[in-house]
Amino acid sequence: QERTYIMVKPDGVERGLVGKIISRFEQRGYKLAAIRLLKADQALLSQHYADLAEKPFFPRLMAYMTSGPVVGMVWEGKDAVRTGRTLLGETNPLNSAPGTIRGDFCIDVGKNLCHGSDSVENANKEIALWFPQGVCSYDRPSDRLIYE
Ligand code: GTP
Ligand code: MG
Repeated sequence: QERTYIMVKPDGVERGLVGKIISRFEQRGYKLAAIRLLKADQALLSQHYADLAEKPFFPRLMAYMTSGPVVGMVWEGKDAVRTGRTLLGETNPLNSAPGTIRGDFCIDVGKNLCHGSDSVENANKEIALWFPQGVCSYDRPSDRLIYE
């Protein structure tokens, strides 16, 4: 099954939205494969956001992401990468539809609550980066109620 890396950013942790964000993925039918709360350092975040290093907002993004702990998760299931980003909403929350996480809970792009991998290739890189110890494989009998 496809896996994606989803992260609740420091604003989401501080605002007490971790449970609600987890619930969106659970209720859709995705399976939790790993979860971890940590204060990310510059080195880890620089790798995670390597492709944004030249952007003007990069220093602000680093300050935001190191302002408190994040919750990193791996969610597993059919089309997890693309559908995961649909559940999050648009990068700019003002463009996010109600019913999405960003569309329901935030306003500014610099405080947009959550991260989701943007491709299967990047998901695999991010999962290896944030979960070097690996993720959890297990059978979930209720899969028969979710997949035809
Ligand atoms: P992620 O799921 O967080 O990776 O968002 P994304 O893939 O939709 O967007 P992208 O990877 O291009 O940007 C990563 C993060 O940088 C965004 O989620 C924002 O938190 C932040 N960001 C992107 N563009 C801007 C911007 O124009 N201004 C500010 N302040 N932050 C930005
Ligand atoms: Mg991105």
